[in-house]
Amino acid sequence: MAIQIPRGTQDILPGEVEKWQFIEAAARDLCKKYQYKEIRTPIFEHTELFQKGVGDTTDIVQKEMYSFDDRGGRSLTLRPEGTASVVRSYTENKMFGNPSQPVKLFYNGPMFRYERPQAGRFRQFVQFGVEALGSQDPAIDAEVISLAMELYSRLGLKHLKLVINSLGDKDSRIAHRNALINHFKPSIGEFCSDCQNRLEKNPLRILDCKKDRDHELMKSAPSILDYLNSESKEYFDQVLVYLQELGIEYEVDPTLVRGLDYYNHTAFEIMSNAEGFGAITTLCGGGRYNGLVQEMGGPETPGIGFALSIERLLAALTVEGITLPFEDEIDCYIVALGNEAKHKAMIMLQQLRKEGFSAEKDYLDRKMKAQFKAADRMKSKYVAILGEDELEKGITNLKNMETGEQVEISLVDFINEFKRICK
Ligand code: HAM
Repeated sequence: MAIQIPRGTQDILPGEVEKWQFIEAAARDLCKKYQYKEIRTPIFEHTELFQKGVGDTTDIVQKEMYSFDDRGGRSLTLRPEGTASVVRSYTENKMFGNPSQPVKLFYNGPMFRYERPQAGRFRQFVQFGVEALGSQDPAIDAEVISLAMELYSRLGLKHLKLVINSLGDKDSRIAHRNALINHFKPSIGEFCSDCQNRLEKNPLRILDCKKDRDHELMKSAPSILDYLNSESKEYFDQVLVYLQELGIEYEVDPTLVRGLDYYNHTAFEIMSNAEGFGAITTLCGGGRYNGLVQEMGGPETPGIGFALSIERLLAALTVEGITLPFEDEIDCYIVALGNEAKHKAMIMLQQLRKEGFSAEKDYLDRKMKAQFKAADRMKSKYVAILGEDELEKGITNLKNMETGEQVEISLVDFINEFKRICK
């Protein structure tokens, strides 16, 4: 039997890949406008990076990592997300010393999680993400959120909902943590074994449990917003004021905790509320992670970012019926008949391509009609016909495929004539 693609992965074929290129170009362009610079980190890292960064009690680290020992016996892991790697690189390359601060970075690349594949959930998926390190200004929280919203809106998405919460600073989190332990402890036997393990280690994770999400104690769990100290509350309020000023609508959801351990203060998700979208509606997730750089061995540095997968973005575009306006036409197709014409056509192709035109010819010795069909399929703007008659006269018949108009142009001056007509 032929070997098949691994579960949870996909081939992105020509015809589909243009959509990816379009989205990636839009994201890059937006990052330029917002002044986020690209960073490329390795696809695999030391396993410890994610254990420490993403957190030992998270589903990602406990159940979803692709970890393996290399031939030198080191445990490596295919990156499940980008933030830990960016923070490692920031620290390792001492970017905290860069003259330009805050350090604003973006990335776009494959991530790997051993999850149960379903619509919108892959084992290899591509995340576009940004991270802003070195500023604790609520304005940068609003900037990061506005960048994500702007990307979606540029691509035409309308049915979006921004959900936001604050997880507070360390003191607020400790107070909330104790309240959660007191809340869940008496009935923890009714929860799954993961939640039982999480009770003392990281009770916030219980709120993120997929198995026990309908347990009645979930709904009545103490809300973090009641435990925010005055600085945390003030910070959150400032973020919300900035969002209002930028005209970005939001919904505060005190149950939003996110699935990674490094967050504090702002946490947010952007969901699709388009009708017909599948069960997984989160398109983008992010938040602030003020302690992470220090945990990775760097100086105390605040940070915030988000990541979104292109797969879910594409799904949202499909549900909203949006077609991306990418170009898939070519400038010129050369219909060549006979051996001499084939040789001449190769030279003309080279001239066209050197001048920046997209051009193609037949390579299957097809008849004139079939070559015209191929030109049509490629949506060629012009067809240059090169048969025996044309060669004898030293010309080519150039046909404008939109108007049907045809002109004779001299082969000697082909490229200049083509450029003139094309203008
Ligand atoms: P995350 O919520 O784990 O956060 O993932 C962010 C986004 O990645 C999700 O909202 C979704 O679009 C996409 N995603 C996650 N898992 C899958 C999957 N299995 N298949 C398809 N798409 C998926 C993070 O990864 C954080 N690093 C975000 C962040 C950056 N926080 C601060 N900076």
